[in-house]
Amino acid sequence: MACTALRGRPPAGRGAPIRRPLRNEYLHGRPHQGEIRGGAVRMDCPISGRADEIVAAESALAAGGVVLVGPAGVGRTRTAREILARARRAGRETEWLAATRECASIPFGAILPLLDPGDGPGAAPGGDPLVLLSGAVRRTAARARRSPLVVGIDDAHLLDDGSAGVVHHLAVRGLVSVVATVRDGERAPDGIVALWKDGLATRVRLNPLGPAAMTDILTHVLGPYIAEAHRREIARMVDGNPQMLAELLIGAHETVTRVRAGAAWLSESRDDAEGPARIAPENAEALSELSRREREIVLLAAGGAASKDIAGLLSLSVRTVDNHLGRAYAKLGVSGRAELAVIVAPRDHAVRT
Ligand SMILES: Nc1ncnc2c1ncn2[C@@H]1O[C@H](COP(=O)(O)OP(=O)(O)OP(=O)(O)O)[C@@H](O)[C@H]1O
Ligand SMILES: [Mg+2]
Repeated sequence: MACTALRGRPPAGRGAPIRRPLRNEYLHGRPHQGEIRGGAVRMDCPISGRADEIVAAESALAAGGVVLVGPAGVGRTRTAREILARARRAGRETEWLAATRECASIPFGAILPLLDPGDGPGAAPGGDPLVLLSGAVRRTAARARRSPLVVGIDDAHLLDDGSAGVVHHLAVRGLVSVVATVRDGERAPDGIVALWKDGLATRVRLNPLGPAAMTDILTHVLGPYIAEAHRREIARMVDGNPQMLAELLIGAHETVTRVRAGAAWLSESRDDAEGPARIAPENAEALSELSRREREIVLLAAGGAASKDIAGLLSLSVRTVDNHLGRAYAKLGVSGRAELAVIVAPRDHAVRT
């Protein structure tokens, strides 16, 4: 994503000195409350826009259980975790089971936390189903003295049949209340389908988040400085899907990191032919043909910055950047960025030969 979409009014007096005014607060290192680290985004903000679904889920839970269904990335895991956290705060005992593809190949793999380690190796995942079942019943009954244990089962469509059967059995006996999540288009195992067929759980649909909730999340993650038009543009792009927003922010973060490298280089007023990109030695001479401005732009482009990012960084119009790039291409005898990348390699990559 072009980082112009993140541009807004920067807070005064923050960040490293730079030679040119930067119009993106990200470049000033403004702290934001979401966390983007090592390519992963933690959108660590309060849950937003799910009040109605949580109310519906909690009344379904009181009646037995709830299965949250919805498209990928809509926030099923987050909502299920929220429901469990609220149950804990209300004094209920909870357990979280995460079903995964890897676990699905191990019979009873997902219900390890429900098994009784005192029953010996035969009661471990892969062991005798009857021993496992009686251990799970005994242990769960001990934990569910006052009220059923609230069990979150994330991605229940990935549960192995044995685990789903045990969960169903525990629910029928009134030992657990289930909060399961199932992704649209996936088939849940019979034990989970039986939960809602037998009336032990109700399905609650999670639809894409509305604009107000997306605004809340964006404001929390990016801070209040993002321009309203850009916030709307991002909300439109991610279409109410918070996971898509997280992925968009990873892309934006990578762009910003590259542009920051360019900003740091420019701030040192360096005249050498390095910068955010490295020049293959045999091509250094060709680059000396370029004007200083052309060289700056070529190095930033080779570092991965889009024309829009470069324009923002150097306070130029996109058209001017493209004109400089066009002239540089002609001098270098290349026809575009792909060929430019052969001549100029990003700093953290080996020079291509
Ligand atoms: N209502 C919400 N308010 C704030 N943040 C949210 C909300 N819903 C989801 N998120 C955040 O969005 C991201 C994706 O949500 P989550 O993992 O719950 O989606 P999912 O539907 O379980 O995705 P998947 O299909 O990959 O399992 C997470 O970082 C989560 O914390
Ligand atoms: Mg999930």
